[in-house]
Amino acid sequence: MARHLITSAIPYINGIKHLGNLVGSQLPADLFARYQRARGNEVLFLCATDEHGTPAELAAAKVGKPVAEYCAEMHAVQAEIAKGFGLSFDHFGRSSSPQNHTLTQHFAGRLADADLIREVSEKQVYSHADKRFLPDRYIEGTCPNCGYDKARGDQCENCTKQLDPTDLIDPRSAISGSTDLEVRETKHLFLRQSQMRDRLNAWIDSKGDWPILTTSIARKWLNDGDGLRDRGITRDLDWGIPVRKGTEDWPGMEGKVFYVWFDAPIEYIACAKEWTDAAGAPDADWERWWRTDRGAADVRYTQFMGKDNVPFHTLSFPATIMGAAEDWKLVDYIKSFNYLNYDGGQFSTSQGRGVFMDQALSILPADYWRWWLLSHAPESADSEFTWDNFQTSVNKDLADVLGNFASRVTKFCRSKFSEAVPAGGSMTDREATLINDLQTRLTEYQTQMDAIEVRKAAGTLRAIWVLGNEYLQDVAPWTTIKTDPAQAEMQTRLGLNLIRLYAILSSPFIPNASAELLAALDATQDDWPDDIATALTALPAGHAFTVPEVTFRKITDEERTDWQARFSGIRS
Ligand code: MF3
Ligand code: ZN
Repeated sequence: MARHLITSAIPYINGIKHLGNLVGSQLPADLFARYQRARGNEVLFLCATDEHGTPAELAAAKVGKPVAEYCAEMHAVQAEIAKGFGLSFDHFGRSSSPQNHTLTQHFAGRLADADLIREVSEKQVYSHADKRFLPDRYIEGTCPNCGYDKARGDQCENCTKQLDPTDLIDPRSAISGSTDLEVRETKHLFLRQSQMRDRLNAWIDSKGDWPILTTSIARKWLNDGDGLRDRGITRDLDWGIPVRKGTEDWPGMEGKVFYVWFDAPIEYIACAKEWTDAAGAPDADWERWWRTDRGAADVRYTQFMGKDNVPFHTLSFPATIMGAAEDWKLVDYIKSFNYLNYDGGQFSTSQGRGVFMDQALSILPADYWRWWLLSHAPESADSEFTWDNFQTSVNKDLADVLGNFASRVTKFCRSKFSEAVPAGGSMTDREATLINDLQTRLTEYQTQMDAIEVRKAAGTLRAIWVLGNEYLQDVAPWTTIKTDPAQAEMQTRLGLNLIRLYAILSSPFIPNASAELLAALDATQDDWPDDIATALTALPAGHAFTVPEVTFRKITDEERTDWQARFSGIRS
């Protein structure tokens, strides 16, 4: 049994995520976690909320709540919505947890001991209009690298370059728009990433099997003299993890906190401890996932994220892990995604543009969204959500192909035989061909799922559903029954077993529909199929079933136009 540690980039606490965020990290991570569990492997799937930094402070101020209270509430909201989407985290943690405080301070101490941290008197931007320091992303200006005019002080969204606020050309406050900014002197800690260039280079070089999107971004910043420049890991903010050297005070750092991008990835580890602590289990239970000296050497660790997160996961976080010089697990595979666009533009949280997770669930069940998003995942390029395309996919793939197959077979059986698997007949060459085709497709599907080729796997799964429809159309049990009732029984029996097979193979994509189908078939044995011929005998003659409720309904043209209009504006 293989062991898979899987993490999704942890979503910012402020606000509900849109479908573009979902498909870029949490949803494909869930697909992979569900698949590996279904294959019988041991999985630890972790996610959390990313709670520190200025955005959280400002969002809390906007609703007039203390930031800790705001974060606790929003965590609960995000957890509930994640559940609604069927995201099967083993634990959904919080980067503000005491566990993360301890671990982040621990890492800072280790890095200091290894002489990988230096203290720097830094110039920082103070906004007179806002009466505060403006860290990182609350300064906007023109990117010195690509000329994009809405680059943020921590990173340019357009070219992914990591920036410092003082790099920006024509800077202004993103809070007030004021250009009345002053640069003031303050002391901060810097991570000496530049010391790690050779190690990071060698490490990335050893990852020949990684997606090009991941390695190209990593290489770009590794080889660009600037990309690995030492980076500030502390901030003058109230909300965050207090700067300490392990358990000791850090002279001169009083009142400062760690930079959110320093503590956020450490939460991947702390989250595992939150998980065991919540269960009252010993530390050994999470350390066997994270410490190579305590059982994690045979763990395969896969991370999921959008492309803007790649530099932090290929450079900064590995620098932290390597620099700490303890036996922490390094990531084995980084699956990254391009952007999903929305109806001719971009999804945007700050502008409220697009469909947000709570809104999506309020109009259709999760599986409809999961299927569309995963089958259109922005892997090799950006992709676009349009209501037309959504309607077409749902109606064709889910309603016409899968849903229709399940309802036709079960209803036919009920009306011509009974609500039990019929016993007669025996297989012919046509069934042998079907089984052969399915076996080939299954191998293909597994290869693609193992490689996290999300779109290709969705295409293969759909082809597997289509094989069943073609078979049914071909052998037409509703015609066979007139001349050879026993053969019609065999064809129906095979059809019922196909529904069960489809439910199992589809469960990583559409877990709720799969569970409904298995329940209707009263199929208690839902092991991943190995041999198709055997799998198609799992429901024996005489086994009772019920006709499932409508598994997938069609989206009407009226609904499509209505939703398109409703979600064309801006969410307030
Ligand atoms: N909150 C970040 C985002 O949504 C992702 C943080 S990932 C982690 O873009 F590595 F820092 F945890
Ligand atoms: Zn840029």
